[in-house]
Amino acid sequence: MTSETLSAPPPAPAPHAGPAAPVLLFDSGVGGLTVLEEVRKLLPGAPVIYAADTAGLPYGSKTEAQIAARVAGLLGRMTERFHPRLVCIACNTASTIALGMVRDVLEVPIVGTVPAIKPAAAMTQTGVIGLLGTEATIRQAYVDRLEHEFAADKLLLRHAAPALVDAAEAKLRGEPVDCAAITGAAEALRAMPGGERIDTVVLACTHFPLLEAELSRAFGPGVRFVHGAQGIARQIARLTEGQEWARQAPDRALVTGRTAVPDGYGAMLKRYGLERVEGF
Ligand code: DGL
Repeated sequence: MTSETLSAPPPAPAPHAGPAAPVLLFDSGVGGLTVLEEVRKLLPGAPVIYAADTAGLPYGSKTEAQIAARVAGLLGRMTERFHPRLVCIACNTASTIALGMVRDVLEVPIVGTVPAIKPAAAMTQTGVIGLLGTEATIRQAYVDRLEHEFAADKLLLRHAAPALVDAAEAKLRGEPVDCAAITGAAEALRAMPGGERIDTVVLACTHFPLLEAELSRAFGPGVRFVHGAQGIARQIARLTEGQEWARQAPDRALVTGRTAVPDGYGAMLKRYGLERVEGF
């Protein structure tokens, strides 16, 4: 089952941020790759470290305290070790819970990922928006605030779809996608009062855009999907505008709590330009 062993620990980082200072993208698993894909389009020369807290996956079923502790602890240690010029929390669950706290403690620009309710409210014609996220994300006050601020005159129907996280992870490992997870998520939203009028669905978990084609088939024609990856990439580009980039070594991925990675994982990461996988 496991064949690709991890390479040696990284060398000591440079003591100050320079053109080689990376952008650090952080998620619990492969979801943040949907953000990385957009970052690559805008900033192809940017050195990137992609960090997946695979030992903590899934975040969605954890408590707020557990998530906040993991995210703040890991990002603190990673920032100290790798001196990124910017950190992106490419995870809705972690961002809606811990973004403010992490910003308070780390002296590095932090870009978060929050449910794309604002663009969805601008897009919907029927006034009914579906939102798919993790269990932890959909109960956050952060999401309530976004709803009140941007979609007060719309109907926002939230559904927790943790099985989609597993399905996205499996898909990127090259395994078959669990069709029941996809249709189950669509049917659950459709079954809510008003759900038959949904024309826009917020993919409020960075894993879910990896399943957009499957979700689109399940919802049928007339439903559009919206997520934050492009906006986040634009925000990263804006915050680093005018900075020099110099990739001095191939980009890498960090995974937590593993001594070996599953078959196919390394090859999949290479498709995103992450040439090495290291334990953290
Ligand atoms: N990708 C994460 C998000 O955007 C969460 C997946 C999980 O760990 O449950 O919410």
